[in-house]
Formats: sequence, C-alpha cells, structure tokens
Amino acid sequence: MNIHTSAMPSPAPVLRVEGLSKQFEMHHLKRTLFAFENIGFELNEGEFILLKGENGAGKSTLLRTLYRSYLPRAGHAYYHTREGVIDLAAAADVDIALLRRREIGFVTQFLNARPRVAADEIVAEPLRLAGTPRAEALSEARRWLAAFGVKPQLWPAYPSTFSGGEQQKVNLARALILPQRLLLLDEPTASLDRSARRALVGRLAELKASGVAMIGVFHHPEDVAGLIDREIQLETIRIADEAEEDVVE
Ligand SMILES: Nc1ncnc2c1ncn2[C@@H]1O[C@H](COP(=O)(O)OP(=O)(O)OP(=O)(O)O)[C@@H](O)[C@H]1O
Ligand SMILES: [Mg+2]
Repeated sequence: MNIHTSAMPSPAPVLRVEGLSKQFEMHHLKRTLFAFENIGFELNEGEFILLKGENGAGKSTLLRTLYRSYLPRAGHAYYHTREGVIDLAAAADVDIALLRRREIGFVTQFLNARPRVAADEIVAEPLRLAGTPRAEALSEARRWLAAFGVKPQLWPAYPSTFSGGEQQKVNLARALILPQRLLLLDEPTASLDRSARRALVGRLAELKASGVAMIGVFHHPEDVAGLIDREIQLETIRIADEAEEDVVE
C-alpha cells in the first residue's frame, strides 16, 4: 500500500555548495587574490539563481569553479547526478568530463570556434554525441540557429569569420540544444540584439519548466526577471595591507 504524506513532491536537489572558497596566487606579485570566500547555497531542479556583484567580485570565477575549470581552495559542491552524489570540488577529471558532456552546461558570451567546422555542425554536435542521427541533428540545429536569428546563408559557413553577436548566437544554440540538468550562464546576453535576447529567455523558461537548474550572471537582469527564484550577492573582498604577510610562497 502506498501512503502519501504530502500532496506535492518536494523538488529534487541538484547542487549543494558548502564553504566554497577560491583564491589565486599571484606569484609574480607575491600576493594572494581572494576571488570568493565561504560560499554556500542549495539549488533544486527547475530553480534559477541570479548571481550578482560588481566587476571583479568573483562571479565568473564561481561559475568556472562549479564547472571545474578551477579547483577551489576549500569547500564542497555536491552535485546530484542521476546515479548518485559527486563532489565537484574533488571529483576525478574523467568524471568531470563525462558530466560536462551529459549533465552540466556552461554558456559564456565567447564561442570557442574551431577552424573549418560549419555553424550548423557545431550546433548539432551535442545531439550527435547523444546518438541522434546526423540529418535529424542538423535539422534541429538549423531550427535553433533560425530561432536565434542567424541568417540561413551562414549555416554552412565557418563561424571564425562571424561577427561577435553571430558567434554568440551559434554558441547559445549549441549550448541550449540539449537540455542539461545544470546550466551555468555567464552573461550570455551581452552583445545580443533584442530578438535574440527574447529567443534566449524563451528557451531558458522552457528549460526551467522542464526541470533544468540554472545559475546565471546577467548584464540585463530585467530580461530574466520572470525566471529568478533567488539571488546571491558576491561581495568584493578587499585585501588589508597586512594580508601580504600571509602569502604562501
Ligand atoms: N585566472 C586568474 N588568475 C588570477 N586572477 C584571476 C583569474 N581569474 C580571475 N581573477 C581575478 O579574480 C577576481 C574575480 O574575477 P571574476 O572574473 O570572477 O569577476 P566577475 O565578478 O566575473 O567580474 P565581471 O563583472 O567584470 O565579469 C578579479 O579580481 C580577477 O582579476
Ligand atoms: Mg565575469
């Protein structure tokens, strides 16, 4: 017999961050630069956290640390995969590579354009890797390029010659074509025109409704006002002069 104690199932946790800290050792200056200290928060399926703070407060560094481009100095980032919990702060590189392919997406304003790969092929690649047949993946890719306003003449062209905004649209189409469980967004709307921004926010709303958890920095937070569940404010860490004496060589 099934006994239901609550009418609404509570949302499944995706990420629990505890005491996460990151600093950069500036060896040439014999100084330590504190990017962020003792960050903690929880994120459930379908939730959207807006990351705020002034220039240099550590927003991009926090996102990169969660994506494990950087190792944190201290703390944990417990990520709930479909199979179990893994600490992103300590996981093996092979596990991180697998998560990046299947579950955790990172969107910046910069396209890492590879030479001599066509725009539609770049966008279709995540679907191809997930096993979608080529023709189907390409047609889906073109649908997304169109949705973000990339002209059809550019679909078979190499993005290395595209304008900054066009490159960003290719980047977004690629990053958002396959729903991830966790999406890290670092100013994805910078240099996008209004209609592309609208297409992006529409897609983010769709992903959120399907359960994707997101943490994002937005140049125009009003674009995503309807999606925000919580805000995290990163404070710029001012270093006292005597901190130099604490530098680890
Ligand atoms: N690889 C690095 N090596 C050394 N210092 C770094 C590195 N990356 C970032 N920093 C420093 O860490 C601090 C936080 O940088 P970060 O890029 O995270 O800021 P941000 O909040 O994203 O700022 P912005 O709003 O300008 O994008 C800055 O003082 C920056 O100079
Ligand atoms: Mg930044």
